[in-house]
Amino acid sequence: MSVKNNKKILVTGATGQIGSELVPELRRIYGLDNIIVGVHKKKPVNDLLEGPSVYIDVVNKKTIETAVENFDIDTIYHLAAILSVAGENDPWLAWKINVEGTYNILEVAREKKISKIFCPSSIAVFGSETPRVNTPQNTVMQPRTIYGITKVTGELLCNYYFNKFNVDVRGLRYPGIISNKTLPGGGTTDYAVEIFYEAIQNKKYVCFLEPNTILPMMYMPDCIKSTIMLMNTDLSKLNYHSNYNVSAFSFSPENLYDEIKKFIPTFEIIYKPDYRQKIANSWPQTINDSDARNDWGWNPDFNLTKMVEDMIITLSKKINS
Ligand SMILES: NC(=O)c1ccc[n+]([C@@H]2O[C@H](COP(=O)([O-])OP(=O)(O)OC[C@H]3O[C@@H](n4cnc5c(N)ncnc54)[C@H](O)[C@@H]3O)[C@@H](O)[C@H]2O)c1
Repeated sequence: MSVKNNKKILVTGATGQIGSELVPELRRIYGLDNIIVGVHKKKPVNDLLEGPSVYIDVVNKKTIETAVENFDIDTIYHLAAILSVAGENDPWLAWKINVEGTYNILEVAREKKISKIFCPSSIAVFGSETPRVNTPQNTVMQPRTIYGITKVTGELLCNYYFNKFNVDVRGLRYPGIISNKTLPGGGTTDYAVEIFYEAIQNKKYVCFLEPNTILPMMYMPDCIKSTIMLMNTDLSKLNYHSNYNVSAFSFSPENLYDEIKKFIPTFEIIYKPDYRQKIANSWPQTINDSDARNDWGWNPDFNLTKMVEDMIITLSKKINS
């Protein structure tokens, strides 16, 4: 990975599940003072406060402009968003933050000539009409959730800004992200994180999806790796911009339960599917990410077995300390 320069990087939504792990890695690569943590309402985990931070409400364009001017921002990782389940609970807020917020970021990038933007998308852009196995890069995108609709809109808007205004904006269609530092913020794949806490603490988990619901997932170290790899790829190698399919492994709650049981043999699971099952049923099971592999050398480090082992070891230490 090339160390770029000492220009400043702003991370919006930095206190969320992904931001709280992306920020320390960016700081390790580019230096503590060069990464500016964008804080909204959610309180940052302690280590995020070690370097500079700024209040950002992505719906309020002025806060973005002020931060960009005051810190001489050169690059933005735009992670502020409302996720799938939270979006169904408040579709109006999801539209405002995910669409108007992204539009504000792109406008500031255009006006202030920001050199690079990262704006993640999601497997939620796909819908029931999309092939669910080995979902291609280019396929039907007719999501039924407001989250998916805002993410398709975001992809199209980002590509428009790239083609029309030469704003270098890049993005990945993340699968469900599994991590152990900050809890996920209200997504359909949250079960795959909650299950570890419950397995270690209570040896019992009530799962909100059916046992055979296969979804694409990725462990946080691979999420961070893919993000930084895409941002460091020479623009001339990219055949896509805001919407690369990216994948690591897929599993069902039953597969995950079987893996966890190898470490916690008395662990029990009960299935009580709820409204989130419908969202999961509309999403892909496996993703074809051959364009990411061919264009910028994507290759994940973690499979299901390795991820489960690492989660159990890391979370057990955290919970028992
Ligand atoms: N975590 C996943 O499994 C997953 C999967 C696919 C895509 N994504 C995408 O990755 C990005 C980051 O997701 P995450 O899981 O870290 O989300 P999260 O819900 O954990 O965090 C979202 C962050 O946005 C902030 N925020 C909310 N409203 C804001 C506003 N008005 N102004 C500024 N900040 C605001 C919150 O304070 C929080 O820090 C999002 O674009 C999300 O859609 C995540």
